[in-house]
Amino acid sequence: MKLHYAMKANPMPALVCHMAGLVDGIDVASAGELKVALDAGADPREISFAGPGKQLAELRQAVAAGILINVESFREVAELARISHETGCPARVAVRVNPDFELKSSGMKMGGGAKQFGVDAEQVPELLAEIGRSGMAFEGFHLFAGSQNLKPEAIVEAQGKSYELALRLAQSAPSPVRFLNLGGGFGIPYFPGEQPLDLAPIGANLAIIVERAARELPEAELVIELGRYLVGEAGLYVTRILDRKTSRGQTFLVTDGGLHHHLSASGNFGQVIRKNYPVAIGNRMTGDRREAVSVVGPLCTPLDLLADRMESS
Ligand SMILES: Cc1ncc(COP(=O)(O)O)c(C=O)c1O
Repeated sequence: MKLHYAMKANPMPALVCHMAGLVDGIDVASAGELKVALDAGADPREISFAGPGKQLAELRQAVAAGILINVESFREVAELARISHETGCPARVAVRVNPDFELKSSGMKMGGGAKQFGVDAEQVPELLAEIGRSGMAFEGFHLFAGSQNLKPEAIVEAQGKSYELALRLAQSAPSPVRFLNLGGGFGIPYFPGEQPLDLAPIGANLAIIVERAARELPEAELVIELGRYLVGEAGLYVTRILDRKTSRGQTFLVTDGGLHHHLSASGNFGQVIRKNYPVAIGNRMTGDRREAVSVVGPLCTPLDLLADRMESS
């Protein structure tokens, strides 16, 4: 079983360099990320590229670099077939599948139902036939059911169902599955009261899947690709306070950063109820004078809010 780092969680080059030495591979979401991953020394054979809006130039770069492309549409397959033909370099492809189930209790559902990610499981056999005709190198499947899940039983269920689905789809594949990516979704606590994810049941279930795969998909390498779980708690978003003002009794600290840097801290990234992330004023960490302030960004929208009437020293 291999561990990949989904570098969208933190694409800072020094961090990607550090992570590249610790994990088996890197998942990228753009040509920009691909460049950072290659510069970090990641092995191109262990770089995968997922995302629903891959541009032609990005597909060309991905083929030239020899990385694995998780195809998400018939258009991508057609473009890649053309690029493979023109360059004489067969694209390495896996099919990102939009499964016929959802990851329960995840902060962000990214599979099941109608989604822009991947290709619906029902359409995959047709896409596989297309890949077979094109002469590209088919390598396997990628499934990503959802993100930010703190319930191990839900992750266990999704990984089990993902494996079953891949096994079923493998029957229509043009060549043996060499790569099966079961996605990420391991959550981290963001807010008071949230408990860290219990990895033990997930590990036990993955061990069973690995054992089954050795028999049922003997050429397949199993992969999980984690983002926030690997680096989220190691990162801080730092911004500078430019101004302090009061408006009708409420104090506002205006910063030079905001939702355009950190959308989720502003509460605009899928949260149903906006909650403050932990926020601290770096040079006021001690002292007992406390007051409630709102921390806002510079954009002309009330959505640019990093802390809503939060107590600080
Ligand atoms: C394709 C893909 N891989 C990996 C990740 C990382 O997700 P997580 O932080 O939930 O592990 C995401 C998140 O959206 C993703 O879309």
